[in-house]
Amino acid sequence: MLKRMLKGYLSKRGQSIVSDHELEQLRGKKEFNHYIESQKYLEHGEYKYILWLDRVYQKIAKVPGHIVELGVAYGRNSIIFGHQIKMNGDEMVRRYYGFDTFSGFNEESLKMDKHLNAEAWKDNSRIWVQDKIKRVGLGNLCELIEGDILAEVPKFLEQKTNFRAALLYVDCNAYLPSIKGMELFKPYLSPGAVICIDEKQQGGETKALIEFCEKNGLEFQKDASPFSIPAYTVIK
Ligand SMILES: C[S@@+](CC[C@H](N)C(=O)[O-])C[C@H]1O[C@@H](n2cnc3c(N)ncnc32)[C@H](O)[C@@H]1O
Repeated sequence: MLKRMLKGYLSKRGQSIVSDHELEQLRGKKEFNHYIESQKYLEHGEYKYILWLDRVYQKIAKVPGHIVELGVAYGRNSIIFGHQIKMNGDEMVRRYYGFDTFSGFNEESLKMDKHLNAEAWKDNSRIWVQDKIKRVGLGNLCELIEGDILAEVPKFLEQKTNFRAALLYVDCNAYLPSIKGMELFKPYLSPGAVICIDEKQQGGETKALIEFCEKNGLEFQKDASPFSIPAYTVIK
C-alpha cells in the first residue's frame, strides 16, 4: 500500500521505486514524503478527525452555502469534506473550495509567528493534491486555489458572483491569513454559517477567532464532546 502510494507520488516527480531496497534508501532523502509515510489506515488520530469533521458538518447541515478551507496541505480534509457533501446528498448545492500556497507559510507569517516552521508544508503541489482528490471520485466537488490567501481570496470573491459559504474552516496555523480570511469571507457567509479553527495548540488561529468574535459581537465557543473542534463561532 505504502509502496504503491509512494510510487504514484514519486513518479509525478520523475522517479520510481522498483524494490524494497530502493524504498529503504529513499527514506533518508529529501524528496521522501514523511507525512504520507506516517499515515496508516485508519489510525486513531485520522479516525477521530473524521468524527470531528462530521460534528462540524452537522452544524451546517441546514445552512445553505459552500465549504471553504484555508489551508489544504495534502488534502486530507478536502477529501473528508468532499465525501461528506456527497454522502449527505448535497452535491447539487454545495462544493468545497480549498486555499493554499502549496509551498508553506509566507514571509510575513514567518516573521510574525515565530513558532512557525519555515520548512513545513513545502513538500507539496496543487496538481498532486488535485489528482489525489480526483482519484477518490471527488474531482467535480472539490476545487483548489493556489497562492497566498491574502491575494487569492479577494480575486476569488470578485469572480464568484453571489457566493455564499456555510462553513469557513480555518487550518492555516498563521495569524494573518486566518484573520484576513475571516474578514474577507464575512460578507459572504450565510446566516447560521460556522467559522471553525483547527488548532490544538493555541496560536494564530485562536488569536484571530477571538479578535473576530469580539469585533463582531459573536460567541467564541466549544462543545462538550471528545469530538469537538477546538473553537468555533456561528454567524448571526
Ligand atoms: C496545518 S496545514 C493544513 C492541514 C490540512 N487542512 C489537512 O487537512 O490536513 C497548514 C497549511 O496552510 C498553508 N498556509 C499557511 N499560510 C498560508 C497562506 N498565507 N496562504 C495560503 N496557504 C497558507 C500551508 O501551506 C499549509 O499547507
